[in-house]
Amino acid sequence: MRFVFWTILAGLLPAMAMGQTGASLYRTKCASCHGAKGEGRAAIKNSSLLTAETKQRSDAELTEAIAKGGKKQSSAHAYERKGVSAEQVKLLVQYVRELQR
Ligand code: HEC
Repeated sequence: MRFVFWTILAGLLPAMAMGQTGASLYRTKCASCHGAKGEGRAAIKNSSLLTAETKQRSDAELTEAIAKGGKKQSSAHAYERKGVSAEQVKLLVQYVRELQR
């Protein structure tokens, strides 16, 4: 009986972690600067993700901007170094694309 309990729990925990969506990650880690809908904040330069330029960037470029801080390699924006996994970056890129639609 106990074995069954732990087996179920062990199966549930990763599933719960995976329940994290691009939207929830974005809300907790990105919206403070990029706005709830990607519109950015007036006080933060270049913070809109809805500009024509950003829409034109490839998924690889957005991935690089999020994971490694973009062309400037900004350490403050290198989320890879702040515990955001490659899988989570992928979800975030997908979510940014949704916001851009
Ligand atoms: C502290 C404020 C801040 C936070 C938090 C932040 N960003 Fe940014 N982000 C910026 C700024 C400012 C830029 C523009 C950098 C530049 O001018 O090169 C930027 C650039 C980007 C770009 C590149 C846009 C382009 O056109 O090249 C993407 C994509 C991006 N951020 C996504 C995210 C995601 C996803 C998160 C959450 C994991 C996030 N950002 C968190 C401030 C922030």
